[in-house]
Amino acid sequence: MFSNTHFSKAKKYWYMGRFYDWSEPTFHPMTHAFHYGTSTFEGIRAYLTDRGPAIFRLKEHIDRFFHSASVVKMKVSFTKEEVIQACKDIIKENGFDQAYIRPLMFYSYGNLGLVPVHCPIELVIGAWEWAAYLGEAGEKGVYACIVPKRRIHNSQLDLSAKLGGVYVQSTINGIEARERGYDEAIFLNLEGRIAEGPGENICIIKDGVLQANSKSESILEGITRTSLLEIAPDLGLKTLVAPITKEDLFNADEAFFCGTAAEISPMTKVADMSENQENPPLYTIGTGKPGILTLKLAEAYKEVTTGKNPKYEKWLAFVNE
Ligand SMILES: Cc1ncc(COP(=O)(O)O)c(C=O)c1O
Repeated sequence: MFSNTHFSKAKKYWYMGRFYDWSEPTFHPMTHAFHYGTSTFEGIRAYLTDRGPAIFRLKEHIDRFFHSASVVKMKVSFTKEEVIQACKDIIKENGFDQAYIRPLMFYSYGNLGLVPVHCPIELVIGAWEWAAYLGEAGEKGVYACIVPKRRIHNSQLDLSAKLGGVYVQSTINGIEARERGYDEAIFLNLEGRIAEGPGENICIIKDGVLQANSKSESILEGITRTSLLEIAPDLGLKTLVAPITKEDLFNADEAFFCGTAAEISPMTKVADMSENQENPPLYTIGTGKPGILTLKLAEAYKEVTTGKNPKYEKWLAFVNE
């Protein structure tokens, strides 16, 4: 019934303790999470190393998954260890060398009042081969657009939780940016500073300093961003965690989006539509080409994720060991 056209090489998914053929449907239409976004998810990647596939920072992802579940008040019956094992099993079962892994926990079928008193918490995990999220633009340089709508504010919700419903804002603005001809959206926060992309963090490089913002800026502090801040000094870069203003971004030597799905995607041009302008001012970042230090960081990140840098082997969960 369901093809895997846009889920490359996916053969099986895991649902509540067993595997199902990818084409096989399992949920009732009155599942609570379909209606209200009462779900939490993770995006994790496995990469091929000399010791077979390894999942990058699996523990940190599963810790965040359980934190997200607690924010949406889920009483989870699975342990972290069980979810970790299921993530490894799905790679093995599908025979992947590398894959994107998507665990999803949700209020399932029971009642449809907003308070899901009769809805059990269920867990499903899918995996497929997913190329870098921003595709070709991510390699050539992303043309981004600061959208008029401000990011949900951290005074309204714990943004360190990846909650399904919160991503509606990302979807709407991701579509709008593309409808206007841009590759990706950038959200400002309510304070008017750079927050993040719809599913990625934003970093800038200026005078040899890698700068990221923090959760006080209404962002999800991504695991990729945090890993890059740790790797960067090995390349001789200084690091700074501080708010990023629009001017900081426009005047940066280099800028990039980063996240598990997007990996490291250089940003080369930005249109500022924050005031909903018809003809938004356009800014070129640095030389207008993917930045040299950004590409170096991307290369170093690749070495880390594929097990070629022993210093960071601690971040890899080997699937077959
Ligand atoms: C809103 C948002 N910001 C940032 C990120 C980057 O996070 P990570 O590097 O942990 O994938 C993601 C992706 O999960 C995201 O959805």
